[in-house]
Amino acid sequence: MSQYKEQIDKNKLPQHIAIIMDGNGRWAKKMGNQRIFGHENGVTSVRETTEAAAELGIKYLTLYAFSTENWNRPKAEVDALMNLLVKTIELETPTLAKNNVKLLTIGDTSRMPKETADRLQQCIQQTANNTGLHLILALSYSSRWEITEAIRSMVSDGINGNLATADINETTISNYLSTAKYPDPELLIRTSGEYRISNFLLWQIAYTELYFTEVLWPDFRKEDLYQAIVNFQSRERRFGKTSEQVTQ
Ligand code: IPE
Ligand code: IPE
Ligand code: MG
Repeated sequence: MSQYKEQIDKNKLPQHIAIIMDGNGRWAKKMGNQRIFGHENGVTSVRETTEAAAELGIKYLTLYAFSTENWNRPKAEVDALMNLLVKTIELETPTLAKNNVKLLTIGDTSRMPKETADRLQQCIQQTANNTGLHLILALSYSSRWEITEAIRSMVSDGINGNLATADINETTISNYLSTAKYPDPELLIRTSGEYRISNFLLWQIAYTELYFTEVLWPDFRKEDLYQAIVNFQSRERRFGKTSEQVTQ
């Protein structure tokens, strides 16, 4: 029996939800286990969240799976995470394909081991024609990396005569980011009781509603997603205007 699901207003669903999946290490420690055990158990949460989002009819789900800064973790953890990532994605791809989920990534996958990146690319190809939920995995991603890359391309296009200074506006900048094809998230969730953004989607979350929960990622279930959505729907999004302006 779902306490929150029935409270969701289907006509006011966010189109795009982004999640900072945090707390795997602490979850494992609590269990007296190695950090990787937490990552392994986080897979269930990814599956549940993806399924819940698809069932609700959410169009975009972006999951922060590995940050640029995460490359600085001990090599054993990085290697284990890369293996787990590609293994899981390969295992789940047939289900994603069947459920009309389109798998996408944002981030600097050139930093990944070539074999991992190639295998990932194959999975992406297998869901390329799907039209349901867009599942966007942020891998080797950070917002400052992305913005730096965007500026590099813009300057280069400027030099080549393909971009005039006068044509640069907010839309142009959005179009140079790796999220160019996706709307900005309306809701950003972070688990594990940390109240920070950790270099995630800085440009895109300018007016996103932020939701923080103490739940550690491996414990996150459909019900937790529903709860976040219900909370989101109770908020008044004013975008700088007055309350009177947005309610009329
Ligand atoms: C999030 O869990 C997963 C990744 C960053 C890859 P953590 O591994 O950061 O877990 P904590 O924050 O140490 O508990
Ligand atoms: C953010 O979590 C990155 C991911 C969830 C992939 P971290 O655990 O790396 O963030 P910090 O270091 O606590 O800010
Ligand atoms: Mg963490």
